[in-house]
Amino acid sequence: MTTANGIRLVLFGPPGAGKGTQAQLLKESLGIEHVSSGDLFRHHLSNGTPLGELAQGYMNRGELVPDEVTIDMVIDRIDQISDADGFMLDGFPRNTNQAGALEAALRERGQRLDRVVHIQVEDGELIRRLSNRYVCRACQRPYARDAKTGAPPQKCAYCPDGGEIYQRDDDTEAAVANRLSVYHQETAPVLEFYRQRGLLADIPGEQPIDAVHHAVLRILDAAHAGAVSKS
Ligand code: AP5
Repeated sequence: MTTANGIRLVLFGPPGAGKGTQAQLLKESLGIEHVSSGDLFRHHLSNGTPLGELAQGYMNRGELVPDEVTIDMVIDRIDQISDADGFMLDGFPRNTNQAGALEAALRERGQRLDRVVHIQVEDGELIRRLSNRYVCRACQRPYARDAKTGAPPQKCAYCPDGGEIYQRDDDTEAAVANRLSVYHQETAPVLEFYRQRGLLADIPGEQPIDAVHHAVLRILDAAHAGAVSKS
């Protein structure tokens, strides 16, 4: 694919599937704007806004933040992105109400999603990944403990002054268990919503990060080729 300009994508999957990891790689390789609802909430939280204070309790318990605030926050962010840049949503939509609201908002703007990429990972592996995850406070890039030493990274390799590395408050055992339960009950039904619209592409997520990245690129290539042949 020569360009992914204008592509509108959802990166879908359970907590820890690698949505944020893949979004960073796609941003670097294709320049698509990354819209992460979790990162938006964490940004509000670190700035002490009323929205951040509202979201904090839900996030720490591993529950969904109410749709009334989540949908507007994400649609407002999409409105800041030019048509030519395109976007990838990470962590949104998370229930069928959010999926319907997104579809309606894009329709009003004369837009539609091109693809929903579903990264599939089993619960046992998700729990292992989340208990080993560390995140850069500045850029939100996820890291894992060193496979040999078990040590967490000291600083972010990508932020100019080496961003501070921390463990998220919702990566505790209790919160992760609840996040997985919420995913299976409230979020997984969104898969059927997109399957019915012919937008869903499944990727096995229990392979190396690069292999998942190349699988996503192949899906975007096919979506791009389909869009060109229809135009
Ligand atoms: P959010 O921030 O969206 O978290 P999440 O969906 O639970 O997803 P994660 O960020 O935990 O995982 P990820 O899939 O991005 O995995 P990552 O790439 O980091 O949401 C947090 C909270 O905000 C929610 O619980 C809710 O309260 C609220 N919220 C957010 N959106 C909302 C919405 N739409 N509605 C209502 N509430 C909302 O990778 C994980 C680890 O695995 C890393 O260490 C990484 O290095 C490693 N890894 C990645 N890929 C691989 C691989 N292929 N092999 C081995 N390791 C890998």
